Amino acid sequence: MVSITFIQPDGAAQTVQATEGDSVMQTALNNNIAGIFAECGGAMMCATCHCYVEDDWSAQTGPKSDGEDDMLECAETEVTDASRLTCQIKVTPDLDGLVIRLPAELS
Ligand code: FES
Repeated sequence: MVSITFIQPDGAAQTVQATEGDSVMQTALNNNIAGIFAECGGAMMCATCHCYVEDDWSAQTGPKSDGEDDMLECAETEVTDASRLTCQIKVTPDLDGLVIRLPAELS
């Protein structure tokens, strides 16, 4: 199992166990993580699974694809260099200890 910590905009953290081969989005849904809606079910067509990958983990999660970058432009939350779609991050043993931050709602 792989541990992933999700941190809410208010700082509340929840560490869960992920299954290799699942996406980080699926892991979030399985554990009722607030802020991950995944309306398209992981088809990279909604950006409601937007997150920020903590700096130290960007090498392990890899680069965004061009399609992911395009979809992030549709996100309704602030997009930064750390932005990823959780449906596009596959859980591997290398991600044990991964830290994911959830975006705040834009007002
Ligand atoms: Fe829709 Fe990730 S779940 S883009």
